Amino acid sequence: MKPLPIGILGSGKGSNCQAILERIRSGDLAAEARVVISDVLDAPILEIAREFSVANAYLAPGRFRTRLELEAENGLVDMLREAGVGLVVLAGFMRVLHAPMLKAFPGRIINIHPSLLPKFPGLEAWKQALAAGDEVSGCTVHYVDEKIDHGNIIAQREVPILPEDTPESLHARIQIAERELYPAVIAEFCARYQAASS
Ligand code: GRF
Repeated sequence: MKPLPIGILGSGKGSNCQAILERIRSGDLAAEARVVISDVLDAPILEIAREFSVANAYLAPGRFRTRLELEAENGLVDMLREAGVGLVVLAGFMRVLHAPMLKAFPGRIINIHPSLLPKFPGLEAWKQALAAGDEVSGCTVHYVDEKIDHGNIIAQREVPILPEDTPESLHARIQIAERELYPAVIAEFCARYQAASS
């Protein structure tokens, strides 16, 4: 079985990255993590990569807050290409990607978001769901385009909102669902990759 080479990008704690790396290590996921890249020098996601002996790198983002400077985005493309990445997995990466990445990896960049998109894109989506009085929230894996938390939806998982929920308890429950959904979606990409390369 030829493993799908993936690259994981994140800015924060990396619980989704950890779940993916655990599935790979246990043989449940036919992927190979080639590199983990963060725009935050001391992000825990880089430490997780080191714990799993996965190549990892800090990408200096430049002077903007929500996107990468052009040079940085071109550099990201180079890093991922050099690592031979076939699927780019955004796991809490807090910057919007633009033409360099989208052209280099068409249909091969995915993201996970903690709401049932198209509801509640943007920051702290679980708080938005609570404030709206919804009874159900969840998480979404989608293809990445130039808009925030936008792009064709690949899969969703529902999570109930309980009367006693706080933002923290709801977020924690959604994250449990994320750590199941994301590896399952990546497994589908792996199956397609293997079918195409056999
Ligand atoms: C996740 O909740 C994901 O939905 C959002 O960012 C968060 C990243 O969490 N895009 P982690 O770094 O994987 O723990």
